[in-house]
This record gives sequence, structure tokens and C-alpha cells, in this order.
Amino acid sequence: MAMTQDELKQQVGQRAVDFIEDGMVVGLGTGSTVKYMVDALGKRVAEEGIHVIGVPTSDRTREQAKSLNIPVKDVDDVDHIDLTIDGADEISDDFQGIKGGGAAHLWEKIVATNSTKNMWIVDESKLSHKLGSFPLPLEVIPYGSSQVLKKLAAKGYNPTMRMRDGKHVLTDSQNYVIDLHLNEIDHPHELAAELIQMVGVVEQGLFLDLVNTVIVGRPDGPEVLKG
Ligand code: A5P
Repeated sequence: MAMTQDELKQQVGQRAVDFIEDGMVVGLGTGSTVKYMVDALGKRVAEEGIHVIGVPTSDRTREQAKSLNIPVKDVDDVDHIDLTIDGADEISDDFQGIKGGGAAHLWEKIVATNSTKNMWIVDESKLSHKLGSFPLPLEVIPYGSSQVLKKLAAKGYNPTMRMRDGKHVLTDSQNYVIDLHLNEIDHPHELAAELIQMVGVVEQGLFLDLVNTVIVGRPDGPEVLKG
């Protein structure tokens, strides 16, 4: 019987915790795939008694980890992070990624860039040859955000303000999210540099040159890819 997307996510979440060793400081990403990983980590803590410290990338993940008795610390309270395990919205052949579908990319990038190793866990629908089919999220300061939106539109980036039930979606830092509907990103490094220098943009969702291990959920079992 074909596996559902949810079953693929669960499978990679469980596989990922095999990479967590006793004593590690582990960055805990955000999203529906990571939720399974945190569940599996909670099980190892309870059943095997391993000692880890989790560094959450969102309020949601912090609450989940605490509910499972996984000790957590804020990124500012640790001196290193051994491994961060996170989801992704799109991953290209060369292991570059788009994140922020869950509006957590700013904290996720802060944790990722302070980690010795980074791993992404995804179901196979997230793989693509070239980035851009998933809308690229930007986290923007609310003040002046309509002006940022206009500037992005003038550049031809097809921006939309992320709204839910008529209200702005807020990040954990109380900022807004703008999504760029680009279809194809030819030069991700150049685009990242251009977007991050726009006044009012706090972070953009391209995660470049950060990850060298990806676990992909396939119908015949999780596949570990090394870049
Ligand atoms: C959160 O902002 C994102 O970067 C998530 O990591 C990403 O959206 C993956 O989420 P799912 O595992 O729910 O697809």
C-alpha cells in the first residue's frame, strides 16, 4: 500500500534521531516533519535515558520538547550546538534550500548558522532540480512593510503579504512574512544578497551552503543523502 506524505515524514523523523548521541546539544527545527523527530527524541530520552539539550527554533517546538521532558536551552545560553535537525520546504540537487513555510526561518537560520552540523529531513515531494517553485519567504519588520512590498513588486518578484483569517501572520519575533512567487531562482546567492540588504527585511528564506546531510522519505524507506 502506498505510504502517505505523513507516514514518510514520520519515517524520516524517526530515522534522524539515530544521529543524535548521548551528551549532544541538538538544534530542534520547526514544522510537521520535525514534530515527528522531536516525538522520537522524547521517546529515546524516556526509554534510553540519553542526556541531550535541545535548542528550539520556535515557541511551538520549545513547548513540544518541554512536554516530552527534553531539556531545552535558548540559543544564547549554549556555547555550541553539535547538530541541528530541521525540515525544509524545497531542496535543490545541490543541497540548497528554501525554508520559512512555517514562518520560523529567522530563528531556524540563527540556530543553523551556530551549529557544527546541519541535517534536513523531508519527504520526497520537497526535492526539486532548481529552487523557486516554493514561494520564497521573507521576514520583514511591520513598520514600512507595505513599502517593502511595493519595492519587491517593482522588481518583478510577485510578492504577497502572508495573511491568515484577514490578519497578518506573525513570526515568533512579531514580524510579518512576505512570500515571493518566483517559480525559478537562477542565482540564489545573488538573490539572497540583494534581498538581505533591503531596509526592513530581517531575514530571507534561502538557506545556502549550510547542510550536507539530507534524509529523504521514500516509499521503500528513508534515504540518507550526503552532499
Ligand atoms: C518553518 O518555517 C519551515 O522552515 C519548516 O522547517 C518547513 O516549512 C518544513 O515544514 P514541514 O516539515 O511541515 O513541511
